[in-house]
Amino acid sequence: MCGIVGSIGLNKTRQYIIDGLKTLDYRGYDSAGLAFLNAEIEIFKEPETVDKLDASIPIDKDGKIAIGHTRWATHGKPTKNNSHPHLSFHREFALVHNGVIENFLELKKKLLKEGFSFVSDTDSEVIVNLIEYHYSTAKDVLKSLKMTMDELKGSYAIGLIHKGEERIYVMKNASPLLIGVGNGFNLIASDASPMIEYTDQFIELEDKEFGYISQSEYSLFDKDGNALDRKPTAKEAELVRHNLNGYDHFMLKEIEEIETVVRRLASLYHKEDGYAFDKEMIRKLKESDHIIFLGCGTSYHASLVGGRYFEESGVPTASYIASEWAFHPMFPGKKPFIIFISQSGETADLIHCLKIVKEHGYESLIITNTKGSTLERGCTYSLLLNAGVEVSVASTKAYVAQVVALLLLVNASYHTFIEPNALNKACESIANIRKSFKGVIKNIASEIKDKNDIFYLGRGFDYYLSLEASLKLKEISYIHSEAIAGGELKHGPIALIEQGTPVIVFITDKATAASMRGNVEEVKSRGAKAYIISTKELSKEGDAIVVDDFDSYLSSIIVSSIAFYLAYFVSLLKGYNVDKPRNLAKSVTVE
Ligand code: F6R
Repeated sequence: MCGIVGSIGLNKTRQYIIDGLKTLDYRGYDSAGLAFLNAEIEIFKEPETVDKLDASIPIDKDGKIAIGHTRWATHGKPTKNNSHPHLSFHREFALVHNGVIENFLELKKKLLKEGFSFVSDTDSEVIVNLIEYHYSTAKDVLKSLKMTMDELKGSYAIGLIHKGEERIYVMKNASPLLIGVGNGFNLIASDASPMIEYTDQFIELEDKEFGYISQSEYSLFDKDGNALDRKPTAKEAELVRHNLNGYDHFMLKEIEEIETVVRRLASLYHKEDGYAFDKEMIRKLKESDHIIFLGCGTSYHASLVGGRYFEESGVPTASYIASEWAFHPMFPGKKPFIIFISQSGETADLIHCLKIVKEHGYESLIITNTKGSTLERGCTYSLLLNAGVEVSVASTKAYVAQVVALLLLVNASYHTFIEPNALNKACESIANIRKSFKGVIKNIASEIKDKNDIFYLGRGFDYYLSLEASLKLKEISYIHSEAIAGGELKHGPIALIEQGTPVIVFITDKATAASMRGNVEEVKSRGAKAYIISTKELSKEGDAIVVDDFDSYLSSIIVSSIAFYLAYFVSLLKGYNVDKPRNLAKSVTVE
């Protein structure tokens, strides 16, 4: 899970590469590097931020051709040697790579026997040397790429430069790679965002395609070496651009986009004359006797909410953590239908599951925010969230969009579970939280920021929300936090409650409100400081935040904003990098 960029023919190559790497650093930020191709290949890299990389390059250094990389370490620690670009043994080629080569050790052994030596621990350095090895006999880079591709097992999006040639070569399998087609220049990048300031014309490479860009043309080939006639298509700048729009952090901006995202999604899929989903897909859903949800992290939490929607509509469902299911796949029922949920559409654990689903001959749907992603292309059906790019590593608007999409899907497939109008009302409640409660939430954040353990409590939909709230807090504040189902407290977790332990409690469901109040008393009597978030009709004196009444089915759509703001403020007050928490990356392309 890395980001790659490349540019040929732009006036300000260095600026494109540096800005592009900053835009793509949501894909990983352990190290950064770039290579210029002038008379020689010149490489600069730092196991540091893109700014540090930029500062390490002489001020007047630029070039007509360059490739760049931002890394999330998989093979080898984040050191300078392991940073990209990697130079080949005979210094003829330099390469940037996003992906994982499964058979790199075997290939490395072969190259060592051929006299090659290596300076890094990475799988990527093997690729650049394999290309150079094949080039020594083929004397043609395209042929060498094809020969290399035939040997590689795994995922790769590659940008390659070759001394003496005014081209950037590309090669792709199971990692995203786009060409940005310009007038007098051409670009490459892992997604369209770095390129959108320069062009809105893009070609998304398909798996096992390879080729090159030059200043005035591009050429692509399929895996058998047949020339392809690929035309660029336009992308909408608004959905592609990464722009803070005056906000200090992407996370805050993305939380505050939730209303727009909900309204856009609802109007996209619910028209005056009915629901606008793929009719064949709805038919398949209706015919199935069991729905299996697969997701990871936040997307798994969305699947728990969606699973309940489906189940309450009479369809047996099961939600699984993808990395668990992959090793013990289950297909209950005679006609199971599989729903993948993934913001990025690139999560390796899910791609593994998709392989299994296909081997068993089942159809699948991916609910994703990323058009053209591996899962979007691999599943039988896709439902796009159109939430706009989510840059902050902590998912917020995409989570809400996933839940809304599931709600609309249940409505369209079975019966009107929640009137679509309720979503407009939900947006008003979200707006109200934004306008009225940020101050209170910030105060809670300052009270809990120095605690070592924080607990979230809820039942039913509020429990699913607690899981998501807890994940959000721990991933950006590094405070240990756990979500506990109200009824489970007494079965063990209550032992953890001490004097002053913060417990954040969601009470938005009439059916469970009384039991939840009982749980509040239980933790308070052990010294906990309870912060209760309730709805007007279920509120009690002393509750920390009381929001407008709504159907409890909507708690993950409405109250999640409070949880997101809380995590945001805690991280901010602790002085952490909100958008780029340690050890994480936006798309998790390793298992
Ligand atoms: C947490 C978060 C992660 C992702 C998970 C799956 O804020 O974003 O838990 O939800 O890595 O990613 P996707 O949805 O891209 O499959």
